[in-house]
Amino acid sequence: MRISVVGCGYLGAVHAASLVEWGHEVIGIDVDPRKVGDLSAGRAPFFEPGFAELLRHGLASGQLSFTTDIVEAAGSAVHFICVGTPQQHGEYAADLHFVQEAAESLLRVLEPGDLVVGKSTVPVGTAARLADMVAEKVPGALLAWNPEFLREGFAVQDTLHPDRLVYGVPDHARADSERVLDEVYAPVVARGVPKVVTDYATAEMVKTAANSFLATKISFINAMAELCEATGADVKLLADAIGYDDRIGRKFLNAGLGFGGGCLPKDIRAFMARAGELGADQALTFLREVDNINMRRRIRMVELAREVCDGSLLGKRVAVLGAAFKPDSDDIRDSPALNVAAQLQLQGAVVRVTDPAAVDNSRKLWPQLDYADTAEEAAERADAVLVLTEWKQYRELDPVAFGGVVAQRRVLDGRNALDRDSWTAAGWTYRALGRRAG
Ligand code: UDX
Repeated sequence: MRISVVGCGYLGAVHAASLVEWGHEVIGIDVDPRKVGDLSAGRAPFFEPGFAELLRHGLASGQLSFTTDIVEAAGSAVHFICVGTPQQHGEYAADLHFVQEAAESLLRVLEPGDLVVGKSTVPVGTAARLADMVAEKVPGALLAWNPEFLREGFAVQDTLHPDRLVYGVPDHARADSERVLDEVYAPVVARGVPKVVTDYATAEMVKTAANSFLATKISFINAMAELCEATGADVKLLADAIGYDDRIGRKFLNAGLGFGGGCLPKDIRAFMARAGELGADQALTFLREVDNINMRRRIRMVELAREVCDGSLLGKRVAVLGAAFKPDSDDIRDSPALNVAAQLQLQGAVVRVTDPAAVDNSRKLWPQLDYADTAEEAAERADAVLVLTEWKQYRELDPVAFGGVVAQRRVLDGRNALDRDSWTAAGWTYRALGRRAG
């Protein structure tokens, strides 16, 4: 099949390269000439394990190409929309202008019988509106909504091996749309991966509901962490113990600095905004609390840093290990780690930030912070070390050797990722969110 993919960010670029693995001929389209240049040359424009290899494999096969020119999408039977839906400036609602522009640009190349497939996370109701626009301008062309659940850091694995397929299809062309999507995902369908075929609204809501659930789970355990701090209980053991109950499960119960990134924070806010427009805002007021709990963790982390630095951050040298919003990613969108680093600096600390992959991105967005290449360099003569993104490199630091670098052996484990016993045995004062001091 010949397929076009509009939008070549984390989602679109990985999707395009994966489609080639499944035997399709794919053209990736993006408005950013630099991104298109990098992708065409086999250079990954972002850090994502396994993506560079997948990209080069696709290019070498001759079945994958990239362009800035939408006209090259002509002749494709399926057109994926994979553009971003960021939070609107100063508002909770999602900014849909990239989706709108992508859909409008496709109108120039669509032919009757083509299928437009939305993958972006959108407010419920968007697909029906776009389907009307497509039907009006190109009678005979169809639209489906097919949300994507990939996690950054696992984008390649999640795209090639999804745990479910969700097709939101129009009632009047259900069988045709499903058949085309089954052809696109043939190797996945053949593996018997669960498939839900439904209407547009349900498909759109599956994505926002899933992300809201995940965010709620994280904020639930972080609320328990607040109580653990008040009572002397241990949130890590609490999570283990409740997680043994199959109905609860241990995944996404890691207490710490909370969630960030380009999805969970903006998706729960956009969901609340959309519920308000639909007159159903009461149904989602709990998400405001989920957001509040999440943001409070960042403030608590700064308080904890002040506490260990004898009550004042002024002039204290603080090393921040981690800038990406999560490990194995260079994404710093709404990064809790950078937010904490900036707050520490505002309170007078001398902050040095390091990250295995996200320093370049961080420097562009937060030029006022000071950066180091390694954990040792960042921690030189530090009064406190904060581990804010749980990269393997930081989890595996040797507390004895690392202790030789710092001025004061004080470590704050923002992700409950370090082995408390080995750090305390090496003479460190260990503090973590939701756990007693070690
Ligand atoms: C998320 C969803 O998982 C994915 O299905 C959706 O498609 C996009 O949004 P992503 O943002 O890449 O994916 O990362 P995820 O692994 O979900 O982590 C999100 C944030 O939650 C990170 O900041 C992470 O550090 C934090 N987190 C996650 C916790 O604080 N505790 C946990 O137990 C799990």
